[in-house]
Amino acid sequence: MSVLMQWIHLVAAVVGIGGLGFIHMILIPASRDLEPAQRDLLFKRVSRKFQYVIWSVVLMLITSGLYSIHAHAWERPWGVYWKWLIVKIVLALCVFFISLGLNLPLALFDWLRQKRQMWLSISFTLAMIVILISAYLRRGG
Ligand code: HEM
Repeated sequence: MSVLMQWIHLVAAVVGIGGLGFIHMILIPASRDLEPAQRDLLFKRVSRKFQYVIWSVVLMLITSGLYSIHAHAWERPWGVYWKWLIVKIVLALCVFFISLGLNLPLALFDWLRQKRQMWLSISFTLAMIVILISAYLRRGG
């Protein structure tokens, strides 16, 4: 990866996963004893702000990730590296889908918001696996 693209990829990963981790490990537990109406209001406000972070992070990760594939992975023969890269991208797309679904104000995603804590845990766990696979790929796959 060129240094700039590597930096964009890492900054986006740190900011995105940091935000997910903060909501999952701090905000949700800290809001447990609030009244339901207060909780709803809090999550509406947090989602309104966080959705812009998610859109930016998704855009940065996809752009820098595709650049990196074009610059460094394209020449590689089909094999273990590509298989794990595909697994990583599919898992990353799941994380993007869940994060956007939880934070976009669309009735279409109400089913996700009804189990917010569960979907947050799932997307945070998937993001941890994505980082593990990335570390493996970094070493050459
Ligand atoms: C949840 C989303 C994602 C996270 C947390 C993530 C995280 C990372 C991290 C930490 C690295 C290692 C960078 C380094 O060591 O300097 C990396 C490398 C990479 N990422 Fe991602 N990434 C994500 C999504 C994507 C997507 C969507 C793509 C493709 C479109 C992608 C393609 C790549 C590629 C090709 C590399 C280089 C692998 C290598 O070193 O050979 N990533 N990613």
